[in-house]
Amino acid sequence: MMSSTVITNIATLVTNDPSLGDGSPLGLIQDAAVVIDGDRVAWTGESSKAPATDNRVDAGGRAVLPGFVDSHSHLVFAGDRTQEFNARMSGRSYSAGGIRTTVAATRAATDAELESNLTRYLAEALRQGTTTFETKSGYGLTVEDESRALRIAARHTDEVTYLGAHIVSPDYADDPAAYVALVTGEMLDACAPHARWIDVFCEKGAFDGDQARTILTAGMAKGLHPRVHANQLSYGPGVQLAVELDAASADHCTHLTDADVDALANGNTVATLLPGAEFSTRAEWPNARRLLDAGATVALSTDCNPGSSFTSSVPFCIALAVRDMRMTPDEAVWSATAGGAAALRRTDIGHLRPGAYADLTLLDAPSHVHLAYRPGVPLVSGVWRRGERVV
Ligand code: NIG
Ligand code: FE
Repeated sequence: MMSSTVITNIATLVTNDPSLGDGSPLGLIQDAAVVIDGDRVAWTGESSKAPATDNRVDAGGRAVLPGFVDSHSHLVFAGDRTQEFNARMSGRSYSAGGIRTTVAATRAATDAELESNLTRYLAEALRQGTTTFETKSGYGLTVEDESRALRIAARHTDEVTYLGAHIVSPDYADDPAAYVALVTGEMLDACAPHARWIDVFCEKGAFDGDQARTILTAGMAKGLHPRVHANQLSYGPGVQLAVELDAASADHCTHLTDADVDALANGNTVATLLPGAEFSTRAEWPNARRLLDAGATVALSTDCNPGSSFTSSVPFCIALAVRDMRMTPDEAVWSATAGGAAALRRTDIGHLRPGAYADLTLLDAPSHVHLAYRPGVPLVSGVWRRGERVV
């Protein structure tokens, strides 16, 4: 039988429903309560008006917000790239070529090793408040290694992305066209049944605009929905291609022209910013203010991967976005919850309207602002996923 729980005595409740509470995009309710019925949110409002339920949890004057939606990660891999990071912190620059190191380690790993790595990073993320995550292949680059990465990922999330087009496989270094044919042919056939999304790293040293278009449209013809690694290391065609193909998200968006910003502001494609990558590669920050002021929808995610951003912490990314990308704390929290849901085209997560999945994070702090105000402090003190308390 489904049981109901009320969480009362919440100092600040972030609902992400602007019709509630203070009327801001976060729909903040002070001195609030949430009722969970089975795996869904049944009610939100002022604590004094909360209906009777089977169970009661006292939030002790702390903050509750929707669980984080990490809409961009690369968690099926083996090994790490400590040496590369060390070299970078001594002055070397980041390039897509480092991906080859992880491809070699991932190919050599057993299924059990890959799955145990994945579950370790997922447990880390959950402890930091992430209740939904997307993850990708992209460190296999053979038919067998890409499809096994997706099979393993699909045991842990519905948001699985086929990224056979991460870089040209080292086995095809002399014949990139043949690799594109593989990615859009036999590899796609093997991978499509296990994925919801198709992604491509559209960048110098990876895939150009024409190749990216070929790859994404082939995936779309097989029922996959597009998302794009776009404009990370340099200006390029990725963002415009993403908007043109109605991709759910253009990810990174570090080097944008005015036309790119206009395209994002006028299209349905979310701009997903990944400040962990700029932090760990000592690159310039994406201009979040320019995107927000133009009216683009912005998501914030970790990009967790062993090369460019080895963090599973959404709170860390929120703190970076506020301090270094000049987002307000409200904007950053919205982007890491509702923004992530928009980047996955999901309406059942990222907010706490009745009917949403009961994915909630309880902070050991009186408001969501503390996520940026108290950087590096493990503030997440409770997590409910699908109505069940998991932290
Ligand atoms: O999102 N940009 C491409 N892919 C990853 C990096 C992968 C790696 O360096 O292993 C990213 O930053
Ligand atoms: Fe990425």
